[in-house]
Amino acid sequence: MGVRTPLFSSQPHLLFWEAKNESQPATAAAECHSKEEIHAVKHATVSARATKRALNFNAGPGALPLPVLERIREELLDWRGSGMSVMEMSHRSPEFDSINAAAEQKLRNLLGISEDYAVIFVQGGGSMQFTMAPMNLCLPVKPIDVLHTGAWTAKAIGELKKGFLHHIAASTEPEKFARLPRPDEMKFSPDASYVHICTNNTIEGTQWTTLPETVNSPLVADMSSDIASRPVDVKKFGVIFAGAQKNLGPSGVTVVIIRKDLAERADKNLPTLLQYRTHIKEKSLYHTPPAFAVYIVGLVLEWIASEGGIRGMEKRNDAKASLLYGAIESSGGFYSCPVEKSSRSKMNVVFRVAGGAAGSATAQNMETIEKKFSAEAAAAGLVGTPGHRSVGGMRVSLYNAVEHAAVEALTSFMREF
Ligand SMILES: Cc1ncc(COP(=O)(O)O)c(C=O)c1O
Repeated sequence: MGVRTPLFSSQPHLLFWEAKNESQPATAAAECHSKEEIHAVKHATVSARATKRALNFNAGPGALPLPVLERIREELLDWRGSGMSVMEMSHRSPEFDSINAAAEQKLRNLLGISEDYAVIFVQGGGSMQFTMAPMNLCLPVKPIDVLHTGAWTAKAIGELKKGFLHHIAASTEPEKFARLPRPDEMKFSPDASYVHICTNNTIEGTQWTTLPETVNSPLVADMSSDIASRPVDVKKFGVIFAGAQKNLGPSGVTVVIIRKDLAERADKNLPTLLQYRTHIKEKSLYHTPPAFAVYIVGLVLEWIASEGGIRGMEKRNDAKASLLYGAIESSGGFYSCPVEKSSRSKMNVVFRVAGGAAGSATAQNMETIEKKFSAEAAAAGLVGTPGHRSVGGMRVSLYNAVEHAAVEALTSFMREF
């Protein structure tokens, strides 16, 4: 057994580190902050030696900002002098109350959410919202219009089929969802309860840039995979929901932004936990919340603010996407993106490998090359490149926390491959 670290170190947040690395010199991390000193979640302090980080292109859960992970590590055993981890705190404590309220306020500030909208943190993921939204918002004899653009709208429709009047206002399924519907293809009901849209189709790699004109019906947006990646005018939506695990934090918490008057549509006899108004009234504390996940969302939002806010994220994301699409376009057909240019996502870039090479690649051949691509990429530390199991090919996710340098490494790997 090695030499034991004294129980009460001068840096209690680094006990684990010291125990494992006692023979190594102090690092930048060891010099950082005392527990009372609250510093901006901005710069990473982990040394390259301390940890080997993959370049993470996973579609979700996805990469988290390194400064956020470091802050979590620093505060893991003792959150700001409370003597405990956020994981151990009562959700009724003033400490957690401040964490919860700060996370909400930071989201309001970043997205410009006005007081006529509620912001709640709930459980059940984006998938639960496929049920909760219609349960709360569907009005008698007024259909729910759906813009059907991929696997996630298919899941939403699956829930609507269980008993909600609905209408497919447009679908690009015949084109394998390789583009978004054009304005003249969308046929909205004059009296829809609401219109369901998925702003970024994580699996198919498409993203709306211009919102559809929906006449009088509110838009309910599944923003799971592009929330906080670019500015949005919240006022154009009745509801925005998103699982946190792509751009906002870890899995386990779902953000719902809802116009307060819409939450009052729901029948009061719905199960309590499934009514938006319950969570609005209790400020997301009706029951035990996913406290640690909410805490991390607060840190991620703080990091976003320190990086120039939503505009800063947009700039980062634009640059990463143009680098990657540029590499695909300039490959002479070795890489090809099946998505129509105007519909391409800046969050999830899908492409095929060797599809067009001399026009000779058979499907099987292509799959073999793609498997080799992802295996060699992973060996080079570029993780998460295979496409969704339902569609195959490659998919690279460029969420907020993915660094430009990671995309540079990927594109140089692509040129070599
Ligand atoms: C656009 C979109 N909607 C919904 C979901 C489902 O989210 P969850 O797994 O949190 O239920 C996902 C998951 O990847 C998604 O990408």
